[in-house]
Amino acid sequence: MRTVQQLMDLSGRVALITGGAGHIGQVIAAALLEAGATVALCDRDEPGLERVCSTLSSQFSSGELDYFRVDFLDENETRGLISKTMQRFQKLQIIVHCAAFVGTTEYPGWAEYLDRQSVAAWDAALRVNVTAAFVMTQEAAPVLKQQQGSSVVYISSIYGLCGPDMSLYEGTAMKHPAAYGVSKAGLLQLARFFATTLAPEVRVNAISPGGIWRRQPEAFHTRYKVRTPLGRMGVEEDLKGAVLYLASDLSSYVTGQNLVVDGGWCAW
Ligand SMILES: NC(=O)c1ccc[n+]([C@@H]2O[C@H](COP(=O)([O-])OP(=O)(O)OC[C@H]3O[C@@H](n4cnc5c(N)ncnc54)[C@H](O)[C@@H]3O)[C@@H](O)[C@H]2O)c1
Repeated sequence: MRTVQQLMDLSGRVALITGGAGHIGQVIAAALLEAGATVALCDRDEPGLERVCSTLSSQFSSGELDYFRVDFLDENETRGLISKTMQRFQKLQIIVHCAAFVGTTEYPGWAEYLDRQSVAAWDAALRVNVTAAFVMTQEAAPVLKQQQGSSVVYISSIYGLCGPDMSLYEGTAMKHPAAYGVSKAGLLQLARFFATTLAPEVRVNAISPGGIWRRQPEAFHTRYKVRTPLGRMGVEEDLKGAVLYLASDLSSYVTGQNLVVDGGWCAW
């Protein structure tokens, strides 16, 4: 029987992490690098990728690290990411899809009051948040199936599970696009779809974080904390354990699940 240390060891595995220039993506990369994985980061923000790679390279000498620029609005670029990763590292066992249109994304018709939310923004968000996960997993399936320990993790959200409580946002400029939760709910079903269709070789799960503290307006922050059983917003570090668990052999018998990391927000 393997030890816990052996089960969480990702040495020799290659992980593709999307949204790698973002807040959560870079922390996920740090967690997987620390566990010994080789990491390919991707994002559409190339200067951000350079910055993150340079910081992570100075922190971890265990696994190799590289990045690819990609725009998930483009299907061909999204498909090409898998062959680029294979060309660079010759294998791929882990995909974490973290890139997304989020509340702060600037796009016409996105973070607007309901009457100004546009179909163009809805389409673009679904493309990045959920269609890209479908395309990458479809494209990577033959490769993932050939290798041991293949695991796909989609970063969803509590808003894929619950409707927004708009009273939290009152008196702030924060908006809540309908397509955000729709795309995140879609990811949960996509995880179940691939969990059953790519089994037994590939495991597919989701993580649903609660709100992460990013200096939101004080009124929102105070209400959010009161509404959360653990009495605080999340921080990026809260996701390290969840992603390492689902990406590694610690969760070898877990597939099609959604791990909610929300301080109890959805437990009421
Ligand atoms: N921050 C939160 O409170 C929170 C809560 C629940 C879930 N999440 C989820 O966690 C994930 C990461 O969120 P974050 O807070 O780190 O956000 P973030 O904005 O810091 O990171 C998202 C990344 O996605 C990239 N991206 C956006 N559009 C892209 C495109 N077309 N092509 C390629 N890359 C693109 C952005 O450049 C960015 O680096 C998201 O999936 C988000 O929905 C976040």
